[in-house]
Order: sequence, then C-alpha cells, then structure tokens
Amino acid sequence: MRRLGLIGGSGLDQWGTATRTHTIDSAFGRPSADLEEYRLGDLQVFFLPRHGTRHEFPPHAVNYRANIDAFRQLGVAGIIAVNAVGGISGPNQPGTLTIPDQLIDYTWGRAHSFSLDAGDELQHVEFARPFEGELRRGLISAATDAGLSVLDSGCIGVSQGPRLETAAEVRRLQNDGCDMVGMTTMPEAALAREAGLEYASLCINANWAAGLDNTPVTMEAIDATLREAMVRVRKLLGTFFEEISNAG
Ligand code: HPA
Repeated sequence: MRRLGLIGGSGLDQWGTATRTHTIDSAFGRPSADLEEYRLGDLQVFFLPRHGTRHEFPPHAVNYRANIDAFRQLGVAGIIAVNAVGGISGPNQPGTLTIPDQLIDYTWGRAHSFSLDAGDELQHVEFARPFEGELRRGLISAATDAGLSVLDSGCIGVSQGPRLETAAEVRRLQNDGCDMVGMTTMPEAALAREAGLEYASLCINANWAAGLDNTPVTMEAIDATLREAMVRVRKLLGTFFEEISNAG
C-alpha cells in the first residue's frame, strides 16, 4: 500500500468521497483541518485543505509545521501541493497549469523549520532542487497521458501576503527570475524536505501578477479562473493517482 499526501489550496477544498477521516494532533499544534483519506486501488491519499475547511487560515497564519507533521505521522511517502499563483513570465498566463522546478522564498516571520530553538536537532537540509523527484516527474507524465497542456518548469516566488504585491515588487520578482508569485509554497516545501517527504507542486496561474496588465487584480477574477482550471486540475491529479496506483 502506498501513501501520498494532497494539500489543497484556494479553489480545491475537498477531493471526493472519503473512506475515513483522521483527526491528528501534533507537537506543533493542530493542522489546518482533519485529513480525509481516499482509496484508489492500492493507493491511499490523505487530503488536507491548507486554508482550513472554512478558509479560516490566511497564508501567513497556516500552521505549516503541524500540517507537515500530520502527513509524517500518517506515513506518507510524499506530498502533492496545489497552489494558486499570479503569473509573471509570458507563458504563465491566467488559466495555465505549471509544475514548478524552483522557488525563491520572500516570506518572513513564519515558523519555517522544525529546528527553531536552541537544543532542537539542527538540520541544514539540502534544498538545491526543492521539487525534484518521482512525484514531479509523475505529474508531468500524467498531464501528457491525460492530454493536458502544462508548463513543466518555472520558478515560484513566495511572498508574505495576505495582500497582493505592488507593481514594483512584481518587477523585482521578474528581475530575480520568478515566473510566478504565490503565498504558500514556503515554508511548506522546506518543512516537507526536513521531514524527509518528497514534495511536488501544481500551480494554477489565476491572474497576471500586479502591474502586468492594465486591470487591477480582483478576487472575483481569480476565483473565476480557479473554478475553470479546477476541472483540469482534477483530471490531471486523477490520472496521476491512477498511474501511481497501477504502478503498484
Ligand atoms: N500574488 C500572490 N499570490 C497569488 C496571486 C498573486 O497575484 N494570485 C493568486 N495567488
């Protein structure tokens, strides 16, 4: 039996009909919600809505450590994370799905490691390729098999939020080499690495980042694009889980 974690972001707050619900407590506090378990053949998938079931946790207030620790307790081998982002570079236009291969962390003040205090086990985890692994490769081939067009690389800049960026901040991100900007990939990805869990992200470009077109970014437009894209996200993840399950 293989076990995987699935973290839903804005626009993906449930997956299907759960076979079981897990209430997990951790040394770092409570995760964003109970985790729902799904079975697909030989595969167990544990789903966690990052922002809570009522979207009560904004990006800077998510208990990332409790969330990753919950997956560790459930014995998953890795995590697929869905992230809504703003597109910066040309191909990342609204509606596009991107499987990033790099990130730059601009967040601050978040509990970003399992080793924060003197006396904690010190971890300098290797993080040169934050998303590298079987899951990222599997998502890319599942997209091809499902006939879905995705971008198979890209750098995501992770901003603090919850406000959207200024146009100058987006220019800086662009100059730094970011193709997208989101608010939740860090410290999630780094904590997964500390916990020894593979981590792949599926980004949904919900809007052009601030200042890149002449219209202000609105939550209504973001939500509409996320709703439209979710059909493809579900198809991609469904194909991916099926292929992992068939691979045994
Ligand atoms: N910036 C940051 N996070 C986001 C955006 C954005 O423009 N759109 C969706 N998530």
